[in-house]
Amino acid sequence: MTRDSEVGLFLALDAEREILRTAALSCGLQCIDLLTSDPILHAENLPPLIVTDTTAGPWETARCGTFSNYDAPTLLLVSDQDRPCTSIASTHGPSSSTAPACVLTRPLSLDKVIITLRTAAAVMASSSQRHQALMDDLSYCRSIFNCVSNGITISDANVPDLPLTYVNPAFERMTGYSSSEVYGLSCRFLQGTDRNQPELPIIREALRTGGETHVVLRNYRKDGTRFWNELNLSTIRDREGRITHFVGIQNDVTQQIEATRQLEHLAHHDVLTGLANRGLLMSRLDQALQQARRRKTSVAVLYLDLNNFKEINDIFGHESGDRVLVTIADRLRSVVRAGETVARLGGDEFVVVLEDISADRQPRDVMQRLVAKLSETVSILGTEILPTTSVGLALFPKDGDTAAALLRAADFEMYLDKQDTLAHAIAEGKRLDKQRHAPSHAALAIPAHR
Ligand code: FNR
Repeated sequence: MTRDSEVGLFLALDAEREILRTAALSCGLQCIDLLTSDPILHAENLPPLIVTDTTAGPWETARCGTFSNYDAPTLLLVSDQDRPCTSIASTHGPSSSTAPACVLTRPLSLDKVIITLRTAAAVMASSSQRHQALMDDLSYCRSIFNCVSNGITISDANVPDLPLTYVNPAFERMTGYSSSEVYGLSCRFLQGTDRNQPELPIIREALRTGGETHVVLRNYRKDGTRFWNELNLSTIRDREGRITHFVGIQNDVTQQIEATRQLEHLAHHDVLTGLANRGLLMSRLDQALQQARRRKTSVAVLYLDLNNFKEINDIFGHESGDRVLVTIADRLRSVVRAGETVARLGGDEFVVVLEDISADRQPRDVMQRLVAKLSETVSILGTEILPTTSVGLALFPKDGDTAAALLRAADFEMYLDKQDTLAHAIAEGKRLDKQRHAPSHAALAIPAHR
């Protein structure tokens, strides 16, 4: 006796149960009384065909979830009214667990019941193969969902807030949350408090219109670490085209995004000091000039060059020279305001762009503060050295109205300052010679001035 030949009786009237038992016997079916056999009422043990006078029964309470193994039984409804008989095969499956496939109209006669049961048994037999194939497909899907590296989430489209009804193991690994922790929740919990993301209105619109969408979001794992989630959202529809579920496919793209950002940073910044490079300086300066034209304000460009960097390198070595450059970069950053551009053009040349100019913040004052800061001693290999700086200042629009012109003007001013400094140093050297007192590393102690 196979399960396909079992018929469950869930009928209140003794007389009707008796007619069904006799009819089943003559159809070669085995009757199981579901009202009296408690253990069998577990959803997974129900016979594939149930004759009942109510659509509410154990099949109703044990509604199948997404990807459940539960094979919902076909119902043969005993009713006082005649109702159209739908195809038994079409009701066989989890999505229509309580729809009656056929109706037996009262009063029941043995002949009528036998005919209906035979038809039901025949259709069941032919549909069981198709059903098995369907179950196999579902089982394949389940195995695929279990082994893919993408997170897969399914939410119920017909419940407010679209609660999750399924997440696969990859979701659990990616987020650190177990399925039982997240079932019933909206997936927005993955955003934590980071709710100001431009992609969220795109998702809302896609969910509202039932469209598909592809976004990259900042999400947070259970341990609080951030990850970039490339999310594909799509819909599942029933035969009538109504949306029943939303499906989310997640891909953790944190490594790719961080590698791309690092490459972008390298393309626009000086590796040693982390300051902007020439390319970034020029584009920021262009932007600053556009803004200054609109607002009718000024922009200052300061061109700085260390006077004694070659000597520092020659005497202390390149590693020490690099340390001095990093110190200079930190000092420049510490004087300018957040958001203002500080760039290294290569070697010992630096450029600062000042956009926030006012009566209280004159470029020459900032320049003097910069020079003073850069002239503080730097300790290298136990020796205190005094870096000195030449500096040139150019102002928009007075000294140039393009980024290149301003840079040239500031460079030229810096050159004049350097000549001044050299002449001063030579005069100072001669004076010291006369006194027959030559200090060690005299070249390093050229005072910054101007
Ligand atoms: C989502 N949402 C979502 N959001 C997120 O930050 N990470 C994710 O992995 C997912 N996955 C996901 C799957 C499915 C199936 C749905 C339907 C939605 C989006 C999230 O739940 C919510 O819709 C958006 O935050 C926008 O709506 P609210 O939060 O403004 O209501």
